[in-house]
Parts: sequence; structure tokens; C-alpha cells
Amino acid sequence: MCGIVGYVGMRPALDVVLAGLKRLEYRGYDSAGVAVLADGGLATAKKAGKLLNLEKELAERPLPTGPTAIGHTRWATHGAPTDANAHPHLDNAGRVAVVHNGIIENFARLRAELAARGHESASETDTEVVAHLLAEEFSSCADLAEAMRLVCRRLEGAFTLVAVHADEPDVVVGARRNSPLVVGVGAGEAFLASDVAAFIAHTRSAIELGQDQVVELRRDGITVTDFAGRPADVRGYHIDWDASAAEKGGYDYFMLKEIAEQPKAVADTLLGRVDASGSLTLDEVRISTSELREMDKVVIVACGTAFHAGLIAKYAIEHWTRIPCEVELASEFRYRDPILDPRTLVIAISQSGETMDTLMALRHAREQGSKVLAICNTNGSTIPRESDAVLYTHAGPEVAVASTKAFLTQLVACYLVALYLGQVRGTKWGDEIQAVVRELSRSSQDVERVLDTMEPVRNLARSLADKPTVLFLGRHVGYPVALEGALKLKELAYMHAEGFAAGELKHGPIALIEKDLPVVVVVPSPRGRSVLHDKIVSNIQEIRARGARTIVIAEEGDEAVAPYADHLIRIPATPTLLQPLVATVPLQVFACELATARGNEVDQPRNLAKSVTVE
Ligand code: G6P
Repeated sequence: MCGIVGYVGMRPALDVVLAGLKRLEYRGYDSAGVAVLADGGLATAKKAGKLLNLEKELAERPLPTGPTAIGHTRWATHGAPTDANAHPHLDNAGRVAVVHNGIIENFARLRAELAARGHESASETDTEVVAHLLAEEFSSCADLAEAMRLVCRRLEGAFTLVAVHADEPDVVVGARRNSPLVVGVGAGEAFLASDVAAFIAHTRSAIELGQDQVVELRRDGITVTDFAGRPADVRGYHIDWDASAAEKGGYDYFMLKEIAEQPKAVADTLLGRVDASGSLTLDEVRISTSELREMDKVVIVACGTAFHAGLIAKYAIEHWTRIPCEVELASEFRYRDPILDPRTLVIAISQSGETMDTLMALRHAREQGSKVLAICNTNGSTIPRESDAVLYTHAGPEVAVASTKAFLTQLVACYLVALYLGQVRGTKWGDEIQAVVRELSRSSQDVERVLDTMEPVRNLARSLADKPTVLFLGRHVGYPVALEGALKLKELAYMHAEGFAAGELKHGPIALIEKDLPVVVVVPSPRGRSVLHDKIVSNIQEIRARGARTIVIAEEGDEAVAPYADHLIRIPATPTLLQPLVATVPLQVFACELATARGNEVDQPRNLAKSVTVE
């Protein structure tokens, strides 16, 4: 949420910062701005709307070039997305510029104090107070890093800040509490960004800042301290994504590219999980086997699409391990005083590893003595760093705001965690685990086959572009798939879409059915779970009798549903628990095509951001 970039080095800093902002636009796109240090002063430009507006502004009124610059792309919290509220924010003398991600909770009090000392505010943002405070502190210490430390000690809330001062033209200073900030280390240059994607074209050497740390970037060195000025331990790491992974690669949208990458993402997430003795391994485990054996409850916390992965995981965990499993929206979790103890295993699922609601839920769980296992796609991000065990999904960078390949890999990771628990607790034999892993390995080809047959789904989506509502029904693991299908349509097509458990239909939602209403039904396999299958065939008949236009997702060879399907979407036959891996894909394609047909911005839907670092 909000993208931040800083640069100091030998290149034209503004170009580096603008290219970085382009890569971070997924984090927010309400407004954008830059500040460059040049000719002994500070020059800024900022514009409401997408980065394109800022680029136009810069083409009409170019800024001077210089070796030091910062930039920001915003997802508005305090103050509407106007030019004035766009970052960077300056002090009254125009010598300090600051960009910010997060929320400064005590800003109203700080602003009143600043006003009493004669400072005038130029915006409605919480961020601006930081520029004024930095200017005050700098006037006495003449050291921007020290000024930042002093200011941070007075701030409450979650924040990442990056600042420059005209009197220190070769310095960029950053500070971090909760929201992400990564340092890129180059030769004679250094970068700061919310995400490595911003500088991956220039360096693959990075340092993740810890909580409550301040970093000072100069061309020839990087200094990290805590807020009190004590030197901090610096942990560097190598970024294993290459620059092309963060490009569209010939696709019109990142979402299309990411949908197409799913077979590889699924296969990569499975890679190397079984060791020579046939046992499953996670990436980092700081929970002992005996502790895992003692667990008497699993609680999954996550948001958005990751929450839907968690809902599916519950079926696998309970079935394979016989441990009770609850799934909870991370934003609700800690406020209801959940029952947690050292025998509760909390699983936090997050693509970004930075979602504040999920982070706060896991901190609460750890405070209560529970162990946390993270399923995450972003190496070095906060959620895995603060967890007791980690399984990384290897989806590669996901840029489109609506999650696709990350979701499929989260499912794979959830199945692996469920099997791992089964292995440790002895509820699954080694050969049973390996049989499921073999099925999982096949799913990569199955997803490929689904992708090869999507043309009718795209045609269908285009034909529904003027419908106001689409409903989604499913049973068992098909129910969370229905929820995910509806979420995708809301996010991308801005249509009214609802997912229901098919069995609930007769308890209310059936009243919504009217002539021609499109209803997507995810049908479980008739093999193995025939009771479920028969029930859902009845549900399809019930809605069809009331005029619904039925769009049925059913496995190959399931002929019983065919007579009741106005549109039949075939998916490969899979074990029941693994069906979401293939059943979700047509729903992603459906939503993406509908959004395109309605003229919406597929990669950057209105009002959303990919990485939500505020609660
Ligand atoms: C945002 C995104 C969703 C995502 C959710 C959780 O709302 O728009 O696509 O599912 O955050 O994100 P996470 O990074 O924790 O998986």
C-alpha cells in the first residue's frame, strides 16, 4: 500500500525513481510524485491520478536532473487523492521532502503543536507533519539521519518514511516501523523501495530493514541504526527474481501473464519438497516435532484471496490430520479474544508477507504463546520473518492486484502443510503422502489443459458484460472456489457477485434467482463424493426451473450435469480435495475477460491496492 522509491548514485536519479514507481504502481495509484535534489535546492512534481499524469506533467515542465531523488505512488488514507495531498510533502522552507507509507496515528496532535509553533500545513495528510518535524530537528543537528531518528521516536502508528534534505544533497534517509522497506545495494549507488521490483533491473543485492530502524544511504555506504542510533545488524540477501519476471512479457496485462504462469508456479512450489528419505520438508522450521505432535488446534488467518485458500486448506487439514481447524479473517481475529495457547498452531497465509491485518493477527497469536507457520510468496518480508516456520510459495512476483498464481500456489502450500502435519503426527503414512504429492505434481499439467480450453469461457464472459449480477455456487471445497470466483468478479468487473454454499440456496439466496440471471456452479466429482454430486445436480435443477442461466464447471466425463447446463465448462478429473486447483482457473479467466469487456483496468482495479499495509 503506497509505493516508495529513493535513489542516490551516478545515474539521473529521477529516471531511476520513475522507473521504480512504474514497478510499484500496483501498491497504489491514486496519485504520484517525485522530489529531486539539484542545484543546491529541491525540485518536486506531484499529480493526482495514475503515474501517467505525473509523467505528462514532467514532460511539460521538466525538473532539473540530479543524483538524488525520491518518489511515491499513493493509496489514499488521510486526505482525498488530490495534487496537494500527493507525496512528497515539504516543510515550509521547501528544504525537506518526505514520502510515506502507513498511518501516523498521533498526527492530529503533532499538527496542532506544529501550528502553535507557526508551521502552516499545505495538505490534509498525516505525512506532512513529518516534513515539518524533520526540518525543525535538522535545524539543530544538521544531520538528516539523526533528525529522522528523533522524529520517529515521536511518531505513533505504522510508517515507512523516506526523506531528503537540500542541505545534504548526497543522502537519502529511510525509516521503518511495520510497513516494508528494502535497500538495494549497487556499486557507487544505493536504492530504497517498498519492494525489490523497483530496483531489480539495477541490482539483485538487497538488505531488508528490521522494525524501528533508520537507514542512511550515500553513494559509498549504507548505515543502519535503530531509532536510538545504535548500529543495527544488517542482513543482506540475494534476490532470485530476475528483471524479466517483473515485466509483462508480451501480454496485454500482468494478470493474463500471471494466469498463464500458473502451471509453472504450481510446479515450482512443489519442487524439492520431498527429501531423499521420502519425507516432506518446509523451508524454515523453528517448531520442534514434539511441539507439532502436541498441537490440538489449527487456526488459519488471512485476508482476501489468501483467506479463500485458507478455507480450502481446512478441508485438507481436518481430513488428513484429524486436527480441528478454524479459518478466520485476519482483520477480525484479535478483536474477538480468540482462544490461543502453545498447543494452537496458527497458519498465516499472505502473498505479500506485509498485509497489516495478517501481521497483527500473527503477533497477537505469538503473544498468547502460539506458534505461527507462514505461507508466503515474498522472501524476507515481515510475516515470514516474524513466524516460527515458513513455507514459501514460488509463484514469482505477482503484480496484478487481483491474485491468481499466488492463490494456486497457496493452495499447493496448504496441501503440503497439511501433509507435513500428517507426517509428523503419524496420521498419514509415507506412501499415502507420496501418492498425494504425485497427484499434486499432475495438477500443473491439468492447469495447463484448462488454460488451453478457455476460448469458450472468454466468449461467454463477453456475452455477459451488461449483466448486473452473477452468482456463484459450490459445495465442499467448491464453496470457497465459488467465493473466490465472486471476489474476482467484484474486484475486476465491479459487478455485483456473490458466492454461496449451494446447500444454503433454499435458505434465502434462491429468492434472488430470476430469468436469465447467470449462476456459475462448481460441481464436485461424481467419483468418491457421489452424495455431494447428486445434491448439487438437484440444486442446478432448482435454479434452472426458476429461470437461471446455468454455467456449470464439471469434470470431464461427468455426464449427469450436462442436461442442466446452459454452458458447460470442463475441467480435468482430480481427487476431490485438489479440485480447486483446476476449478478456480476458468473463474479467473472469466473475471479478467469480463473486466476487459467492460473497459476496466484489469491490473489496477479502482480503489484497491495489492499490498495492504494499513489495518
Ligand atoms: C489485498 C489484495 C488481494 C489479496 C489480499 C491479501 O486485498 O487486493 O488480492 O488477496 O490483499 O494479500 P496478501 O498479500 O496478504 O496475500
